[in-house]
Order: sequence, then C-alpha cells, then structure tokens
Amino acid sequence: MNHFPHTRMRRLRQTKHLRDMFNMPFPAPEKFIWPTFVVSGSGIKEEISAMPGQYIFSPDMLVAEMNALISSGISSVLLFGIPNEGKKNKTGSSALLKDDSVYKAISLLRTSYPELTIFTDVCMCAYTNHGHCGILDESGHLDNDASIKQLAEIAIHHAKAGATGVAPSAMADGQVLGIRKKLDEHGFINTLIMSYSTKFASSFYGPFREVEQSSPGGGNRVAYQQSMADSKQALRESLLDEVEGADILMVKPALSYLDIIVKIRQKTNLPLATYNVSGEYSMLHATAEKGWGNLYEMASETLLAMNRAGADILISYWANQYGKLIKDNH
Ligand code: PBG
Repeated sequence: MNHFPHTRMRRLRQTKHLRDMFNMPFPAPEKFIWPTFVVSGSGIKEEISAMPGQYIFSPDMLVAEMNALISSGISSVLLFGIPNEGKKNKTGSSALLKDDSVYKAISLLRTSYPELTIFTDVCMCAYTNHGHCGILDESGHLDNDASIKQLAEIAIHHAKAGATGVAPSAMADGQVLGIRKKLDEHGFINTLIMSYSTKFASSFYGPFREVEQSSPGGGNRVAYQQSMADSKQALRESLLDEVEGADILMVKPALSYLDIIVKIRQKTNLPLATYNVSGEYSMLHATAEKGWGNLYEMASETLLAMNRAGADILISYWANQYGKLIKDNH
C-alpha cells in the first residue's frame, strides 16, 4: 500500500522539528568564497551600479571590509584586479607588476589576516587592450601556448605575494599543467589550483565585464570557452583538469548548469566549486527591485540548489551578506 490514502507526504512535514530532521542544512559560511574587485590607490570603496552591495576596493579598504565578513564566518576571497588607468596592453604585462592592485591586496590581506584563504583570478582579459583572455597571435587568434606561459607568470606573482591558491580562468588548454609545473619549480608546492575547469561562453557575465571593462574588443570567447550546448565536452573539460593536477574543479556559471554540476560530481572525487556569477546576482536584484520577489529568499533558494546539485564550494557575491541569507530553509 504505497499510495494515497495510506501514503501521505504531509505527515513528514507537519512540525518544524520533523522538517528540520529531514532537511539538508543551508551551506555553512565556510563553504563560501567571496569574489571581489581591487583597484590601486587608497580610501576607495565604490559601489558597482549593476551589482548593489558589491564594490571596487582599494587594498586598504578591502582589509577594513574583511573584519565584518570574517565575523560572519566567511573565510575566503577570490580577487579580481582592475589595472591602473592606461596600463592595458597587448600582453597584459601590468598584471606582473609589484604595484598591481591584486599583488598589493594579497600582501596587505596576508599581513592582516594570516589565516585567510586568498584565491586570485588568473586571467588576462582585464589587463589586455583587446580584452581577450590571453595573448593573440598574428592572425588575431588566441595563442594558447604563449598564453599559458604568461598565465603561469601571473600565478607565480600572486603566489609570491601570499595567495593561498590561484584560479586560472582563461580556458587555455593545458593551463593547469603549465601553472602547476611553474609553481612547483618555484617551490610553491602548497599553492592550490582552483581551476575554472568548465567555464561556459555565457551571457551572464555582463555586469562583471562592465566592472572590469573586459569585453573583447573584437570577436567573442566562443573559440575558447565551453559551448553550453555540448555537455559531453563540458565533462571532459573538468576531467582533463583533474588529470593536469587541479586541486579544485569548478562549473561556471551555476544556475543554468546545475545538470553539469550533478554529472561532474559523479565523475570525480575532487572538491567541486560553482561560480554564481555577476548576471545571476544582478538578475535577482532586478527582480526584487520590481517587487517581484524577496531578495534574500530568492538568493538562498538558488544557493541551496547549487549545493544540492553537488557543489561543495559556492563562489558567490552573496557571501558578504551571509547573515541575511535564510539559513532556516523551511
Ligand atoms: C575572467 C573572468 C570572467 C568572470 C570571472 N573571471 C569574465 C569572462 O570570462 O568574461 C565572470 C565572473 C562574473 O560574471 O561574475 N576571464
């Protein structure tokens, strides 16, 4: 007799305790990584208009901001640099300077919070004047192998400043292997690689590209980022990075790719992160502003879904508002 009227699902939901007993917990703050933006200078905390509650910080202001996050249990950041005015060039070389905003922010954060888990985005799109994620060859295409060398230099630069881990996001073939080798050669054997292993050519990066002014000047990224319509290739991308030595894999964006998270989770025992990207954040704000939904309830619902799909780690702008998320999800 396993159907109505003998079976009644509502029996299981009738008291708060019963619901609590069966519900999975809302992901703990330790599961979150807060992505944030740094610019050179001091005293700067500038709100990003397309992303309410998110800011561009100078290193000193980021350090000040971290106090509140750390008290709410958030223990990790993912840093994106914004190069100084006029510093973009063909090879993105200003990412390698000691006065680059990321280098400075890592050093300052490391001094102030020795235990903080600091990841850095390793990519060139914000630093190149053409806006692509690597170095271009003479025909204007991304030169994969030349880009790996430059990405590995950036990774070393961040490791020297004190990064816990580097997160290569250029979708260059072999970038994880190239970076691992270089880190090891320089003695950074404990620097983690959190690979943007399956990164889709998505329309949800809009607000981010506005902040970073990193839209490609010509063409798009479909020749290196993953096609959303090829799920077999999407799995291969992550599994290859595992072989190359990634410590943490990632699916990005999150919401439109929960099926991919489920599938990769089944095929690897590595920790799996998902990146809840700028467009996903801004779209909830836009909905809430119109009065069409409760902001933090919607945010919590989406974050729980990512965790339920199998993402152990949530890279999310919501991390700096963790206290407002609904931890009591019933
Ligand atoms: C850099 C990079 C991007 C994002 C993270 N790293 C943009 C892109 O690939 O165009 C997007 C993050 C977001 O939208 O929040 N390659």
